[in-house]
Amino acid sequence: MSIQVGVIRGNGIGPEITEATIHVLEATGLDFQWVPVAIGDDGMEQYGHPLPQEAVKTLKEVKLAIKAPLLVDKFKGRVYCEHEDGTVGIYPSLNNAIRRELELYVCPRPIRGIPGISGNYEKLDVHIMREITEDVYSGIEHMIGDEAAECIKLTTKKAALRVAEYAFDYARRNHRSRVTCVHKANAVSMADGLFLKCFRQVAAKNPDIPSDDFMIDASAYYLAKNPEKFDVIVASNQYGDILSDLAAGLVGSLGLAPGANVGEDGMIVVEASHGAAPDIAGKGIANPIALILSGALLLRHIGEEEKARLVEESTVELLSEHRALTPDLGGTASTMDVARAIAERMGEKMEKQRRGGE
Ligand code: NAI
Repeated sequence: MSIQVGVIRGNGIGPEITEATIHVLEATGLDFQWVPVAIGDDGMEQYGHPLPQEAVKTLKEVKLAIKAPLLVDKFKGRVYCEHEDGTVGIYPSLNNAIRRELELYVCPRPIRGIPGISGNYEKLDVHIMREITEDVYSGIEHMIGDEAAECIKLTTKKAALRVAEYAFDYARRNHRSRVTCVHKANAVSMADGLFLKCFRQVAAKNPDIPSDDFMIDASAYYLAKNPEKFDVIVASNQYGDILSDLAAGLVGSLGLAPGANVGEDGMIVVEASHGAAPDIAGKGIANPIALILSGALLLRHIGEEEKARLVEESTVELLSEHRALTPDLGGTASTMDVARAIAERMGEKMEKQRRGGE
C-alpha cells in the first residue's frame, strides 16, 4: 500500500526545496503518494483562506506531511480559523495556526555538526525539543494606547509536562545520555519557574536518564563555547526557536537544520528549522538539506529506520566530501544538483547492499 504524505510547498524557497526533498524520498524506493495541501498562498487562491479547514482535514487524515517554510508578514496580526462547531481559533501567525489546529505540541530539532563542514563544531550533536503551543507565541497580546504593548507569556502545567515527557522518551528511544531544561526561572519565576518545576517532576520519574538545567543566557554561551555540555534540550517556544537557529549557525548553515512537529496521535509534519529565505528564492540555490533530513525524520517516524539512515548517511557523506555544496556552504551547486547527488549516492549504497546480500 502506498504511503500518503501531505505536501505543503510553501513560499520563497519552499517549492524548490520541496521538489528536491521529494526527489530524494522517491529514491528510497518506497511507494509514496504525495497529497498537495493548499495552505498559505495556495489556500488563499483555492479557498480564500491561508489555512482552510479543508487543508486541516486532509492533514488530520493523512497524518504525515512535509511542510516547506511559509512567508509570514511582520505586524500583520492574527489568523482566524472558524471550525464546524462554531468555535474560532485565533493565532498569531500562520505557522502557529497550523501547529495548533493540528494539535502538534513538540518540535524536535536534531542538529549535528558535519565532518569537513562544521569547523570547530563538527562534534556538535544537540537535539532541541521545542514546546510549540504556548509561551509568548500564544497570541495573547494587545496595545495599551499607542505607547505600549503587552504580551502574555503563557505556561501551563499540561504543556510543560508533555514536552518534558516527550524529551525523556526521545532520549531513551534514541539512546541519548542527558536531558537539559533551558529556562530563565530567576527572572521569570512563575512562567519559567513552572516550566522548570514540571521538568524536574518528569526527571524524577526518569532516574535512568541524567538531567540538569541552565538559564537561557548561559545556555547560549555554553552552546557556542562548550556544546558537549548538551545532548537533549527541552525549551519553551521562544527559547527553543532561538537556540535552534544558533545551533544551525554553529554547524554551518540554517540549511542544515532539520525538524519536525509532532502530535499525540502519531501525526507528524516535518519541516526545516529555517524560513522562506526570500532573499534567495527562485534562484535555484537554496540548500535543500534541512528539509531532506527532515524527510528522514518522517521515514524514522513511520518505522523506516533503514531508509532514514540511508538518506542521512548519503547526505553526510556527500557534504563531508565537499560534493554538491550550495552557496551557503561555499559551493556552487544548485538545489536540484544536491538532491540528485544524494539520490545517486543512495542508489549506489542500495546496489552495494543488494550485491552483498547475493
Ligand atoms: P530565513 O530562515 O528565511 O533566512 C535567514 C537567512 O538564512 C537568510 O540569509 C537566508 O537566505 C538564509 N537561509 C535560510 N534557509 C536557507 C537555505 N535552505 N539555504 C540557504 N540559505 C538559507 O529567516 P528570515 O529571513 O527571518 O525569514 C524569512 C521569512 O520566512 C519570513 O516571512 C518569516 O516569517 C518566514 N519564516 C517561516 C518559517 C516557517 O515557515 N517555519 C520559519 C522562520 C521564518
